[in-house]
Amino acid sequence: MSVVPNPGSGKITVPELLQRKSAAAGSTFNSQKITCLTAYDYPTARLLDEAGVDLLLVGDSLSMVMLGYESTLPVTLEEMLLLTRAVKRGVKRALVVADMPYGSYHGDLGESVRNAVRFVKEAGAEAVKIEGGERRLELIAKLTEAEIPVMGHVGLTPQSVNALGGFRVQGKTVDAAEQVLRDARAVEAAGAFAVVLEAMPRELAAQITRELKIPTIGIGAGPDCDGQILVLHDLVGLTFGKTPKFARRYADVGRVIAKAVREYCEDVRGGTFPSDGESYHAGQMEKTMEQEEAPVNKDGDW
Ligand code: KIV
Repeated sequence: MSVVPNPGSGKITVPELLQRKSAAAGSTFNSQKITCLTAYDYPTARLLDEAGVDLLLVGDSLSMVMLGYESTLPVTLEEMLLLTRAVKRGVKRALVVADMPYGSYHGDLGESVRNAVRFVKEAGAEAVKIEGGERRLELIAKLTEAEIPVMGHVGLTPQSVNALGGFRVQGKTVDAAEQVLRDARAVEAAGAFAVVLEAMPRELAAQITRELKIPTIGIGAGPDCDGQILVLHDLVGLTFGKTPKFARRYADVGRVIAKAVREYCEDVRGGTFPSDGESYHAGQMEKTMEQEEAPVNKDGDW
């Protein structure tokens, strides 16, 4: 019988994720599925970790989602390190994976390894993700040799946006599907512990998932992968413009923030914020701010 993972229990590790795949091989039980989301800062990392997400990816999608760029290409190594450190501070249970940004692993092999080591040493990442299949064989093997678990990423690789001519579904023709399959096999053979399958026909993702011994994590790759990942900001409605059809929206946090901010502005303009209760008073004993009574909101909730 397969073991049902209990969100909120033990620390998620690379061996545990591999073990889930092998346990799932002998079972039809879906509870082995690996839940993954992007996280880019301390508060969301904490919320996602406490909600029981298995793996948090500090994705280079933050280039677009957090920094407002048109693609994932501009974000720098230093920016990724800064935000990986913030995520790491918010996490107790989930596996923290850092995405290596464009340019940080495309040159000299030694420099690529040194950049990956920085994510582990300086930011506390437990694994790194790199885009590309057959082309990354040597690098994945080197990183694995250096004790850095690697998550591969094949199919649509957003850092190749210029070479691909846009963000397009991959593997739709027989030849293209075979290339994606070769890429996935190469990533596994090189020693990756998991692979992201992005934007491809579900039938192809299902075939890769059946064939590989390492877990596949799908995004726009159908329901048959061993796990799923989404960009958190798509899931909670904190992005602007069109989102891809696989990005199911579970909340409209953008609207919640806009409403709260409009009310705050009205209160400031109307002179009702801050109230007397939300103000400090002269002539009282000196206290630290924590010793001061906690303010309550206008509904008396806190
Ligand atoms: O950068 C990212 O967020 C990603 C995931 C969506 C897989 O690569």
